[in-house]
Amino acid sequence: MKFYPCSRLRGEVTIPGDKSISHRAVMFGALAEGTTEVTNFLQGADCLSTIDCFRRLGIDIENTPERILIHGKGLHGLKKPDAELYTGNSGTTTRLISGILAGQDFDVTLNGDASIQKRPMRRIMEPLGQMGAEISSIRGNDCAPLSIHGTHLKGIHYVSKVASAQVKSAILLAGLYADSPTSVTEPVLSRNHSEIMLNYFGASVTSTGTTATIQPEPELFGQKIIVPGDISSAAYFIAAGLLVPDSEILIKNVGINPTRDGILQVAREMGGNITLLNAITDRGEPTADLLIKSSPLHGIDIGGSIIPTLIDELPMIAVMAAFAEGETVIRDAAELKVKESDRIAVMVDNLSRMGCDITGTDDGMIIRGGKPLHGAVIDSYLDHRIAMSFAIAALCAEGETEIKEAECVNISYPTFYKDLSHLIG
Ligand code: S3P
Repeated sequence: MKFYPCSRLRGEVTIPGDKSISHRAVMFGALAEGTTEVTNFLQGADCLSTIDCFRRLGIDIENTPERILIHGKGLHGLKKPDAELYTGNSGTTTRLISGILAGQDFDVTLNGDASIQKRPMRRIMEPLGQMGAEISSIRGNDCAPLSIHGTHLKGIHYVSKVASAQVKSAILLAGLYADSPTSVTEPVLSRNHSEIMLNYFGASVTSTGTTATIQPEPELFGQKIIVPGDISSAAYFIAAGLLVPDSEILIKNVGINPTRDGILQVAREMGGNITLLNAITDRGEPTADLLIKSSPLHGIDIGGSIIPTLIDELPMIAVMAAFAEGETVIRDAAELKVKESDRIAVMVDNLSRMGCDITGTDDGMIIRGGKPLHGAVIDSYLDHRIAMSFAIAALCAEGETEIKEAECVNISYPTFYKDLSHLIG
């Protein structure tokens, strides 16, 4: 797909539902008694993988454009699937469902696409194993395909080396089936959508600092969930509005949970003009409209406890840094190497192709910004966030940019190019 520079962006965009929250609504709905109704569900390939897995586990799920209805069967109502469960490209599906499957009385094989088969699963195999589940990597490389032998689980207190909401959520979900309370302590707080939504469904999760604790065997009850817009998807328009000259855009209904909103802090610190309007909180999740005006940006240092709050936005932030005056240093972000692609190597490769002065480090990158970029052939590496970040870079570069396999945005934002073209006018 080809992209060209653009002179200004104007108008409004309503961001599709949050990916993390959409996954959880289906999973928790499946484990609840009664029906869960989800509106503004993200119809991206990752969330459809979650729906597919739970259908194969015996849950009736009605998916219409207006809403999703999940006819839950309670904590012990899942059935053994006929064949292996396929999680596609979705790390969230793979890791969270493993926590649920660890507590079932049947065996399952879990597999995903080529990217999933390279992503680390030891991080969930270890704690779930300590709880009593037998999980093995079929090829012996700590990656999927995984064979999961569910059993009666025991509660543990797990101290995680990584700040990962997927790890934390897998352990908390297994904790629903344990014989005593289960706690997870992370080095830095990661996104807390599971804690918020599990409580809403009737579980008891408490959080103190970076430790979350769940009580075993609650009864979960079907709920109505309205999914806020995904701030990770909004990030592309935040960056576009700031970078493209003479722009003013309104991004509507964006989730601004403080465990996810690091992009706002960083964009403002870089000099971005962002105004929050109509802020409300619904079912524990805050949302707002974001008014973005073009702004001259400058480089900053990004590291420490803010990293988990903007981990998925770092490719977009790296592009912003390429156009910002001065140096930006991103550190403490080694997790980027184990996302849908190695996002440090891929950003260095693609931004260098556009003429940017960038160096990869063990835990991030150093970007010496401010020099004009030129169009190039960009490899998305089939990573949705890379494709979207470079679609925005292309608007501010000189000449033509071609993004290979640009349709991979279907993973998290199927209507991304259409929404972007409306702002171009
Ligand atoms: C997610 C957590 C993050 C994030 C991913 C979604 C979630 O991953 O990068 O896109 O929904 O819990 P980690 O838990 O691996 O940091």
